[in-house]
Amino acid sequence: MKVKILRQVSPVSEPYWEGFDYDGPMDISIAGLLDHINYNDDIINDRGENTTRIGWECSCLQGVCGSCAMVINERPALACETFLRDLKGKEISIRPLKKFPVIHDLLVNRSSIHENLMKTNVYIGEWNQGSPGDHEHQYMAAKCLKCGLCLEVCPNYMNGKKFYGAAFANDCYLVAARNGEKRDEIRKVYGEHFGSGCSKSLSCVEVCPMKIPTLASMAKLNRPSGPD
Ligand code: FES
Repeated sequence: MKVKILRQVSPVSEPYWEGFDYDGPMDISIAGLLDHINYNDDIINDRGENTTRIGWECSCLQGVCGSCAMVINERPALACETFLRDLKGKEISIRPLKKFPVIHDLLVNRSSIHENLMKTNVYIGEWNQGSPGDHEHQYMAAKCLKCGLCLEVCPNYMNGKKFYGAAFANDCYLVAARNGEKRDEIRKVYGEHFGSGCSKSLSCVEVCPMKIPTLASMAKLNRPSGPD
């Protein structure tokens, strides 16, 4: 099997594709495959040349930290949750998420997700929720990994210029549901119709590893009585 990886030495260098040959078992995740390529002292590409280790990041290796988010065969996915046996064809491509600046190879800087929350004051602060509310939905929204896969497929996310994306929308819902003052603040900034910059393609819901129903979060935010 041929593995093509879009590499980039540094944030300011030009990206380039590099190929690797793999003939091991198919019952391996993309995270395992990257580890396999990086394992030996000598890293050899498909032209038989020595090359450098592939830069990427992971932590949990069980789909709960979100750090291994990348684009596999043009589909945004978690590397530790994507298995070779489930991919079609004799060649796979792996590239970094393109909505974030590349640090090195598949490693990207996703701090804009948190910066957008900080600059719009979306944080829970004092929890002053009056009633228990819709715990089930709050629990779902709180599962967001901030992996950035939703932003990769969002046609409206332009790093804050128009719409901050699904991760942001779910945090707005959570904060508004748990803090009445914050809810009023969010309303003041985004008006009565939260998410008007979203064209509802809902690709974000399709690629979300936690299957968070973002549309429901936005709908709840737009209730005249406020989210629960
Ligand atoms: S390493 Fe944590 S989600 Fe993949």
